[in-house]
Amino acid sequence: MCGIVACVGDSNAPGVVLEGLKRLEYRGYDSWGIASLHGNSISISKKVGRISEAAAALPAASVSIGHTRWATHGGVTECNAHPHTDCSGGIAIVHNGIIENYSALKKSLELKGHIFKSETDTEVIAHLIEEEKKKGVSFARAVGDSLRCLEGSFAIAALDCASGAVIGARKNSPLVAAFDGNGKCFLASDVTAFLQHTKKAVFLDDGEMVSLGNGRPVFTDFSLREIKKTPVEISWSSEQAEKMGHKHFMLKEIFEQPEKIAATMQNRLSGGSITLKEIAPVLRKAKQFDRVVLLGCGTAYYAGMVGEYVFEELCGLPVQAEYASEFRYRKPAVGKKTLAIAISQSGETADTLAAVREAKARGATVVSIVNVVGSAIARESDFVFYINAGPEIGVASTKAFTCQLTALAMLAVSFAAESGKIGEAAVKELVGGLRMLPQQLEAVLQESGRIKEIAKRYSDRRNALFLGRGVNYPIAMEGALKLKEISYIHAEAMPAAEMKHGPIALIDKQMPVVFIAVKDRSYEKILGNIEEVKARGGKVIAIANSGDSHLQQKADEIIFVPKAHELLQPIINAVPMQLLAYYIADIRGCDVDKPRNLAKSVTVE
Ligand code: M6R
Repeated sequence: MCGIVACVGDSNAPGVVLEGLKRLEYRGYDSWGIASLHGNSISISKKVGRISEAAAALPAASVSIGHTRWATHGGVTECNAHPHTDCSGGIAIVHNGIIENYSALKKSLELKGHIFKSETDTEVIAHLIEEEKKKGVSFARAVGDSLRCLEGSFAIAALDCASGAVIGARKNSPLVAAFDGNGKCFLASDVTAFLQHTKKAVFLDDGEMVSLGNGRPVFTDFSLREIKKTPVEISWSSEQAEKMGHKHFMLKEIFEQPEKIAATMQNRLSGGSITLKEIAPVLRKAKQFDRVVLLGCGTAYYAGMVGEYVFEELCGLPVQAEYASEFRYRKPAVGKKTLAIAISQSGETADTLAAVREAKARGATVVSIVNVVGSAIARESDFVFYINAGPEIGVASTKAFTCQLTALAMLAVSFAAESGKIGEAAVKELVGGLRMLPQQLEAVLQESGRIKEIAKRYSDRRNALFLGRGVNYPIAMEGALKLKEISYIHAEAMPAAEMKHGPIALIDKQMPVVFIAVKDRSYEKILGNIEEVKARGGKVIAIANSGDSHLQQKADEIIFVPKAHELLQPIINAVPMQLLAYYIADIRGCDVDKPRNLAKSVTVE
């Protein structure tokens, strides 16, 4: 949902900001813009289209702010692209979030004579600051006072021509400041924007402002009371945020999964047991919990659905996966004895963050499973389990999903063991299964050529069905989501047995049906569902365990995957789904890493 970058102290600040925005393009990509300070004026370059295609030669400057947009208020036009300015052109603003009371603010500013140029909510911030400055206060004071009038969410960077200052601030949208120790300061929505310059970062909390300049960021609240903050060292490398020879980030990230799942487990497995130091206090009181809720959106929600099966099976407690976006609008039966598990790659998804707050307000203990270190959800949870998947740049989540599933399995096994629901032998068996995952995923990736061939035969279809049962039903959901979000083919998923209650009417010779038909407790039933599709002329693409010759004869297409422990099999089965969606989208010429209308991190509710 929009990316913002600022740089102060580099003689090529516009170039630094441009490069940073290219790395943040996954956050929004309909238009972009950069404002730079040149003597006593601000110059602005804006364009509709992707910043990755920008070859802008921007005049040198040492102070710049920039933005890559995912439109909310106002269409995709050059005029609506950020930065936005006040009437004088002396204040420039970039913004990520939504100003909910912008209409009322705009009306009152117009009555005071302000002339608006765009249809955005953002522009009110520039005019508000201009109005405050008329009182003769400093730029920082004018920004702080203006921000207190705003309702909604924002991360901003504001540039003042008169003082040359750049100020950042956040409320419910991500923002991180950084400095290199040699006079350069940065501000961005995400650390990947400045990793090639520095790894010393300071995450802002809600209600905080930062002033860039003098080589080190200075933090205050909106009333300018100074706040001491400790920098963190980011362990990600800038190379990790590159494609490394792959055609797309998504493909690179799919192929990274064996290594990343190993990273999720690293230092957490010893012999036949699991040690989760970061959540040890939760595990110690495992017996006290009487309910588990899993919260997430999109792919992270499907990870939660898998977690629901795994926790239920191992812990014997009432467990429920919930859409984080719905959670706070219900009256969930959540209290002091509830363990809430929030799942989020970015750690910034607004709905998941709101669900975390709701669960905490109801007295639950919140553990989050997060990829981005220092993100808002990580900071607001009681305990964090970092999945260590490295930067995920492709808008379609892949490696984060399988790492989330791995983390959930480890958490469920530890929880079940601590609460006395499973014994040493079961733990050992599951740990053995976990250890085999990287190698088994390598085997699935070796099937990529075959999956590409299948993709060629089905890339022209307009619809697809994905069916699975039990713990693999969420994987069918995830397979359908992957296909629709990157290839724009309409896809639906359901538990296989539900097909005959209605959706079977859709089956004809044009309909590919992807079945997850591995040898688990539902296998025989799934075979029956496959027959039902075949009898109506549908095309069956089966994900089956290696060596299943019976299914090979029945299915039109078969993708073999190694057999894993039943509760870990979804981790393996997710990968052919990702590859199938990827190759179909690529064959159709879709922009795989930046699908239309989407943004990687949904920081508005
Ligand atoms: O960063 P999060 O994991 O919280 O993001 C949640 C969803 O927005 C995300 O998984 C989305 O569904 C992806 N585009 C799916 O590929």
